[in-house]
Amino acid sequence: MRFDVVLTGLYVIRSNLSICARLRMWSPAELLITILIKGLTQADLTKIMTPSSMMILFLGLLVPYTKAVPLNQAACDRNVLSQAADAYVAAQTAGSLILLQPVLATSWVYVENNKNISAAAGVLMTALDIDHRRTNYDLVTCATYTEIIAASGPYVIGTQIRHDAAEGTVISIDTIASTTGSWLFNATKTLEYVKKEDPGWIPLPVSAQSTREAIQAAGDAYLDMWNDSHAHEKVPWGTPCVRLEGSAYTGKGQPNDTCQAGIPSNHNQAPNTHRRYVIDQEMGSVSIFCVWEHMMNAADSHEFRLENGKLRSKRE
Ligand SMILES: *[C@@H]1O[C@H](CO)[C@@H](O)[C@H](O)[C@H]1NC(C)=O
Ligand SMILES: *[C@@H]1O[C@H](CO)[C@@H](O)[C@H](O)[C@H]1NC(C)=O
Ligand SMILES: *[C@@H]1O[C@H](CO)[C@@H](O)[C@H](O)[C@H]1NC(C)=O
Ligand SMILES: *[C@@H]1O[C@H](CO)[C@@H](O)[C@H](O)[C@H]1NC(C)=O
Repeated sequence: MRFDVVLTGLYVIRSNLSICARLRMWSPAELLITILIKGLTQADLTKIMTPSSMMILFLGLLVPYTKAVPLNQAACDRNVLSQAADAYVAAQTAGSLILLQPVLATSWVYVENNKNISAAAGVLMTALDIDHRRTNYDLVTCATYTEIIAASGPYVIGTQIRHDAAEGTVISIDTIASTTGSWLFNATKTLEYVKKEDPGWIPLPVSAQSTREAIQAAGDAYLDMWNDSHAHEKVPWGTPCVRLEGSAYTGKGQPNDTCQAGIPSNHNQAPNTHRRYVIDQEMGSVSIFCVWEHMMNAADSHEFRLENGKLRSKRE
């Protein structure tokens, strides 16, 4: 049997949702047997096979054989972080862990909406047609933050990936995923705003960058507004500043746009706890995941961007 027929056969099975769930537990030998039993003809297969799906499968098949090759680049190498983030996006696109295997540490944890669960039970197993993706890099703690929007999912997902500093391998994938029913959720609308705003998310010139400490302090001050009446004074409010909250956008394209509209006026609320940070100094951004205790312990994702020391953009 020709190699491309095998590949195409895999794709057919992968496309069949009822079989799809089981595919993930099959070995290559079992897959091959299944293809033979199903008696798919090459004519059938080539009809539905596209070059890009062929490529995904081809890469997928190579994975088991490339796993043994060690990542011999330095830890916190931007390329290592970026390869893992790309593998994560590819895995989410395919709805399968196969493409992630080469970058994972032997023991790694998967966290979804603040709960440690098996990745096999997570949103990673849902193939998503991804419309938007952006990754920020923390070269000090060896971590990335990736934002994904799949309007047809519909899903808006934020993911912090942490690496072993010595090995470069992925030790945790921490995801906050929102979908229909989530607070202010409308992925199509979020996508529209993000597409308008993201061209502005480019690396800052050194003169406009802040220290890691200042970037984190700005995010912390914001999240402290729930339980601290003085926190508001510590936020370096900038103008214009736009806030994208779920699918609600505060920006009106005015030079006086502010992120202070609708901030908490009751400072006696339960705090935002268990904060995890990914700080990208070049971008001026910090992604903070936390437990929003006041909102029934909801999993909460925030992203702040400072330019010239001032808060100019905020997503949650
Ligand atoms: C969940 O995973 C995190 C690592 O991301 C770890 O620090 C924590 O101890 C784990 N919690 C449990 C209950 O296993
Ligand atoms: C989501 O937003 C889009 C674009 O603004 C809009 O057309 C659609 O009606 C909204 N969907 C819901 C369920 O509100
Ligand atoms: C508010 O909550 C944060 C996070 O738990 C904590 O670090 C901070 O000390 C709290 N502030 C006050 C004034 O209680
Ligand atoms: C911003 O300016 C416009 C007029 O240019 C005004 O109508 C609006 O109230 C201002 N907004 C704030 C928040 O000051």
